[in-house]
Amino acid sequence: MNVQLDPQSKTAKNAVDQFRSDILNGLSNTPKKLSSKYFYDKIGDHLFQKIMAMPSYYLTRCELDIFKNKTDELIDLLIPGDEPFDLIELGAGDAMKSTYLLEQLIRKGINFTYMPIDISGNILSILHQKLSSQFPEIKITCLEGDYFEMLQKAASLSDRRKVVLFLGSNIGNMTLEEAEGFCLHLNKNLSPKDRVLIGFDLMKNPHIILEAYNDKEGITASFNLNLLTRINNELGGNFDLKQFQHYQTYDPVSGACRSFLISLISQEVTIDNIRISFEENEWIDMEISQKFSSEKIMDLAQQSGFAIAGTINDSKKWFVDSVWQVK
Ligand code: AVJ
Repeated sequence: MNVQLDPQSKTAKNAVDQFRSDILNGLSNTPKKLSSKYFYDKIGDHLFQKIMAMPSYYLTRCELDIFKNKTDELIDLLIPGDEPFDLIELGAGDAMKSTYLLEQLIRKGINFTYMPIDISGNILSILHQKLSSQFPEIKITCLEGDYFEMLQKAASLSDRRKVVLFLGSNIGNMTLEEAEGFCLHLNKNLSPKDRVLIGFDLMKNPHIILEAYNDKEGITASFNLNLLTRINNELGGNFDLKQFQHYQTYDPVSGACRSFLISLISQEVTIDNIRISFEENEWIDMEISQKFSSEKIMDLAQQSGFAIAGTINDSKKWFVDSVWQVK
């Protein structure tokens, strides 16, 4: 197996240092903020799998509908002429959706290397194992780390046409401003023949969106609270999870679906001897899952130097995979 570690921070120690400084910075700001990219440790990966299996979490099934039932349309947009290429997937996770694309590419005998990028080394090794047994002939290079950095790494390893997948509305975890910066960065790292496919969750009935993130079983709550557990375990924190409560919002005006953890009492938490105080009802900003209109998607492409090559919807039109090319 070919697992490349983060080039800037080759050791696990540097990853922990980065984690610690991001967490401490985020908790010393007002309002307090933590990054949802840190949700994905082993327990977080497992909780996200449970979220994807929830009936209310429609996103995965919508995009699966596209990858299962519109695979040939996807291939026509992404790989015109069936030329050899490299397939880079940002935040690949278990690659449940892209596996349908991989299967069809292999069946058609198209020459490609699959390069999944993920912040979770745990999910990458599960993925590598799964794909090598399902497709023994597949060429795969796993890249563990932040996708901003790993994208550059992947580009340096590839000397062919590139197709970049960024599925699952992972882009929604950035604010609109951050998403624009990210797309510009993507644009600068690609050539005119390359293609990008971005999955966007669309604005829809606000109740449907809120229910996807506010399940009564409390799986999403545990997913958020697990970051506090992770801080306790990895950074020597002493968060008392019972004193924090998950709160979810969706604003149909901006399309922002946000999660918070609310401090139920006035309390002091320490992380490796560093004191952090919370007022009663003070919140930690945990995650944004931005929802898009087609106008917003067009603006984003336009502002970051891309032209839209095509868009594919699921049958409910709740989700869209938008294929872009450098202008
Ligand atoms: C993995 C970022 C697409 O924002 O919908 C699911 C993560 N958070 N439930 C999303 C998530 C709460 C998910 N993404």
